[in-house]
Order: sequence, then C-alpha cells, then structure tokens
Amino acid sequence: MNLILLGAPGAGKGTQAAVISERLNIPQISTGNIIREALRSGTEMGLKAKSYIDSGKLVPDDVVIGIIKDRLQNDDCQNGFILDGFPRTIPQAEALDEMGVRIDKVIDIEVSDDVIVTRLSGRRVCEKCGRPYHIVDLKPRVDGICDDCTGALIQRKDDQIDTVKARLEIYHSETEPLKGYYEAQGKLSVVFGQGKVDETTALTMVALEA
Ligand code: AP5
Repeated sequence: MNLILLGAPGAGKGTQAAVISERLNIPQISTGNIIREALRSGTEMGLKAKSYIDSGKLVPDDVVIGIIKDRLQNDDCQNGFILDGFPRTIPQAEALDEMGVRIDKVIDIEVSDDVIVTRLSGRRVCEKCGRPYHIVDLKPRVDGICDDCTGALIQRKDDQIDTVKARLEIYHSETEPLKGYYEAQGKLSVVFGQGKVDETTALTMVALEA
C-alpha cells in the first residue's frame, strides 16, 4: 500500500506512521526526519534547510522533491510506503503525480489548532531516530531515553510557541489545499485525531481497510 498522511504540524502523523509502518511492514518516509538527519550530519542540503526548518518555514519544493525522488528508489519501497510530511504543497503533489508514483490512500488526521499547540509544547523527540514522545500523554519507559534506540530525548527548536504558530499559518495556507486535491482524485479519508493515540490508530486502520 502506498500511503500519504496529511495533517497539521503535531496532528500525530509521525506517531501514526510509526504504528502503521510496523503493522504493515512498510517504511515510514518522513521528510522532516530526513532533513533533520542531513542537518545533524552537516551535509550541504542540511545546511541550506537549517534557516527554513528553525523558523518553521517550508523548505523549497525542489529540495524536498529531490529527497523524495531519491528515497522512493530504495528497494524497501517495493511493497509500499508511508509518506509522512510530503507532499506539503500543491506543486509537491503534482511532482509526485508526474513521477508516476501511484498513491492508494491519503489519510488526513484532523486536530484543532489549540490542541496542536498543547501537543507540540510538550513533545520530546529522540535525537537519534526521531521517534516522538509527550511529557504527559506519551512518556518513554525510562525518563529522557528512547524506548527503541536508547537515544536522548530533546525538544525541537521549532516546537517553541511562536514557531508553532507560524507553522500552523503555513499549514492552513499551503498544505490544507491538498485535501481538495486528493478528494478530487477520490483518495481522501478524514480521521478524527483528537482522541488518545490508540483511538486515532483504530480510526486510521478502519480508513485504511475501507
Ligand atoms: P516535520 O518534521 O514533518 O514536522 P510537522 O509536519 O510540522 O509535523 P510534526 O513532526 O511536528 O508533527 P506530527 O504530525 O508528526 O506529530 P507527532 O506524531 O510528532 O517537518 C519539520 C520541518 O521540515 C517543516 O517545518 C519544514 O521546514 C521541513 N519540511 C518537512 N517536510 C517538508 C516538505 N514536504 N516541504 C517543505 N518543507 C518540509 O505528534 C506530536 C506530539 O503530540 C507528540 O508529542 C506526540 O506524542 C503527541 N501526540 C500524537 N498523537 C497524540 C494523541 N492522539 N493524543 C495525545 N498526544 C498525541
């Protein structure tokens, strides 16, 4: 299954993508994680992206389209994949179509802006593998340590409140129109994402099987 997860920053795309990836045994492809990894490794692309990502702006389309083009060539994508955080603009969606990539389903996780702000201010992420946690709702087994890879949990720079608000504005203007784009293709399912993680997962699985 070739799947896209849509939703505002902090809607739970990364959290749900990790669960679906394990259940369906297909890779989770997060453009945010790929860019942050490039930043940590100090690559040219990472350095170019730094000012965008830190201020909550979108990285230019040509950069992320290039990342996805390369990543989808990997053998592990042959039986399907989950795109988490791509596409984020209409030109990115059009580029995916132009590449001839077949998309089976697009799941949009809907969460209100005020809940997003609470979630992102309490989010901690593994600095090694990117897995997200929350200081109240989704704690790791050992405080400050990732359950999966024992990496340290840190707060993302773009999870500061003013940057979260800037990201939400960009989401509403640039990314939300993708709902109409995929609805017109008959691929969109909308999932209510404000319940507990398990409840959102259950709704997402129903949408996947529909
Ligand atoms: P990216 O890393 O993709 O950030 P994002 O879309 O803003 O999404 P987040 O990772 O913030 O949230 P999420 O929806 O994955 O939520 P999560 O599961 O973590 O991108 C970062 C930046 O990279 C962008 O700003 C941009 O600069 C650049 N970029 C990336 N892709 C790009 C593209 N295609 N084009 C251009 N630029 C691009 O959950 C959030 C928190 O809530 C966690 O703490 C979690 O534990 C908690 N939580 C999740 N679900 C629940 C629940 N049901 N109940 C309670 N808490 C929950």
